[in-house]
Amino acid sequence: MKESISKKLAGMTLEEKLCQLTQLDGSFLPDISDTAVTGPMSRLSLKKSDIDSLGSVLNIQNPDSVRKAQRGHMETDRNRIPLLFMHDIVHGCKTVYPIPLGMAASFSPELMRECAEMAAEECKLSGVDVTFSPMVDYIRDARWGRVMESTGEDVYLNALYAAAQVKGYQSRGIASCIKHFAAYGAPEAGRDYNTVDMSERTLREYYLPAYHAAVDADAYMVMTSFNSLNGIPAAANEALVRGILREEWGFDGVVISDYNAFNEMMTHGIAETSEDCAYLAMRATNDIEMMSVNYIHSIKKLIDDGRISTEQVDSAVERVLELKEKLGMFDNPYQHCEQHTGESCILSAEHRALARKAAEKSAVLLENRNLLPFSKEVRRIAIIGPFGDTGEIIGAWSGFGNPRDTVSLKDGVQQLLPNAEVITLRGVDGAINAKADPEEIRKAAKLASACDIVILTLGEPSGDSGEGTSKQNLELPSAQYELFRAVQAGNPNTAVVLFTGRPLVLTTLSKECSALLNVWQPGTEGGSAIANLLFGEAEPEGRLTMSFPAATGQCPIHYNHMNTGRPRADDLHRYGYCSSYIDGPNEPLYPFGYGLGYTGFEYTDLSLSSDSMSSGDTITASVTVTNVGNRVGTETVQLYLRDLVGSVVRPVKELKGFCKVTLAPGEKQVVSFEISEEMLKFLRADMTFGTEPGEFRVFIGHSSACTGYLSFRLK
Ligand code: NOJ
Repeated sequence: MKESISKKLAGMTLEEKLCQLTQLDGSFLPDISDTAVTGPMSRLSLKKSDIDSLGSVLNIQNPDSVRKAQRGHMETDRNRIPLLFMHDIVHGCKTVYPIPLGMAASFSPELMRECAEMAAEECKLSGVDVTFSPMVDYIRDARWGRVMESTGEDVYLNALYAAAQVKGYQSRGIASCIKHFAAYGAPEAGRDYNTVDMSERTLREYYLPAYHAAVDADAYMVMTSFNSLNGIPAAANEALVRGILREEWGFDGVVISDYNAFNEMMTHGIAETSEDCAYLAMRATNDIEMMSVNYIHSIKKLIDDGRISTEQVDSAVERVLELKEKLGMFDNPYQHCEQHTGESCILSAEHRALARKAAEKSAVLLENRNLLPFSKEVRRIAIIGPFGDTGEIIGAWSGFGNPRDTVSLKDGVQQLLPNAEVITLRGVDGAINAKADPEEIRKAAKLASACDIVILTLGEPSGDSGEGTSKQNLELPSAQYELFRAVQAGNPNTAVVLFTGRPLVLTTLSKECSALLNVWQPGTEGGSAIANLLFGEAEPEGRLTMSFPAATGQCPIHYNHMNTGRPRADDLHRYGYCSSYIDGPNEPLYPFGYGLGYTGFEYTDLSLSSDSMSSGDTITASVTVTNVGNRVGTETVQLYLRDLVGSVVRPVKELKGFCKVTLAPGEKQVVSFEISEEMLKFLRADMTFGTEPGEFRVFIGHSSACTGYLSFRLK
């Protein structure tokens, strides 16, 4: 332990230590809340002295309040230990970039890192020391509203994105708190906060790698999750937190609970009293308790009863103090909430340009029947639908972002084409249960037919994804279909722009539309990015990192599923050789890795440098990619492997590499991937990690649905 920290620790009373292990929100701070003492403090039986030595605060929205709170705290805390201010800065602080699921479609961890750096730069001026980000939960079920915060269903890609975000934030002096440890992304039936029950194999092979990558990238904090995992709520799960996170992976940073999760141990039914909660949480090595006060009220008794040791408490406090020191809080408690007079980077042209680039790179073109890109010569443009004339497209969990600072689609189009007449009409409301008004639908059809082209905005409002927004039905609301049909009939030159925080079921729309561009929730520069994409100033090059199901009943669905004993998809006999549905396809509508551009690519001449590999060797897989369209375009070339026979059943495909190539019309390029033994390792039947000899298939293609392969044997 550093001397400065041990000195501080030695001077603290137990009560003061427990306050360091407690996080509350601004409503508890008398310096910024008039009702703190009579309201929140008295409700939780807290004394003024508890608040005086509090360790950290969450969710204060502006730097002036943070400054005020810190000033008050530094005056009253006997130990002069600064507060840490934490917030959910998930996809941008003030300049907001697309939601993580959208960012992931860029297949660019570098871009993700740049955006995280930008967010951190703005955090530094906004009173945020720690961001509760990234959420690195692995996901498969679009019914779960928080898929928007994830980077998708692929293990390899998630790990890259996890590390990129952690490095991005922390290289700019903001601590990253990864979440939610562990397996929060697998709630039964997609219902938020629901039970997670899974084998250790699945946990380790799919769910843990991204957390592990983030820990290896030196994330300073980890948040435990709300869910129970195999019967034990994560915050109480000693095997998980102390066992895997700390002992196995060597994480020595700060573990914080999720909001009120200590109390929820009682609701879960694994604790009877506050004392039980504090005991279980401390035993699992949670350091900070978020928004409840079981440590403050119960640890003293647990120590007196010999159930918890002072060393356990001291270790937790030491980790919190070390974090404060790493962030430089002891040198300058005000470093992220200082009053700045100079030029600010917040919403600067440079930051906006990056957010715009990110929104362009994350859009995924799902359908295009020779409609896009639109000509810039068009005179009359209708923008119809609930998301065309609003800054709300900024997205859920949008930090300190303001819809008023956001470029709406209407403004984006008008700025790009100042001489065009742009007419907007809402047509229907975006809410799930909105009813279509026949009169409005008629108006929309009429407007559509009176314009050269139509941009029809459909999808989910931002608030319909994120925490607590699980859905049973992933179809578009019927009112939106009515609007679509009327508008499409009124003018076939209609491009649907889809705003969504999750994969939706687009089976009917996909067949009937002329073009379908998925822009997710695109952030502050959404409108300008979409305009650039629609009118060919930018090329859609995003590729899905989460399957779009053909029907809600397919969920959970993911491309890297295990092989079965009856895998044949062409035999629809009920007891035949296919694990299939009797009322629809097995395949998703749009698979992992899918996305179109404004040109096309052909893959030929797949080759392997050898048909066998000895331990320690590598072999090279190559393919020729040709731009067969008539525009320059960028393709994301994807490498998948399949281990044909193992001591345990293996996935039918796993992404192991990707690269982007930009090619002129007619241009071709040989793209090569090095395959190493490391890439062939898996959790064997005896739960050790390693390879097994045998046949491997190599696929290189446009998406996870690619079928051509070559094989080699590992000797
Ligand atoms: C609850 C959410 O689950 C978590 O992701 C978030 O960081 C905390 N609330 C704090 O806002």
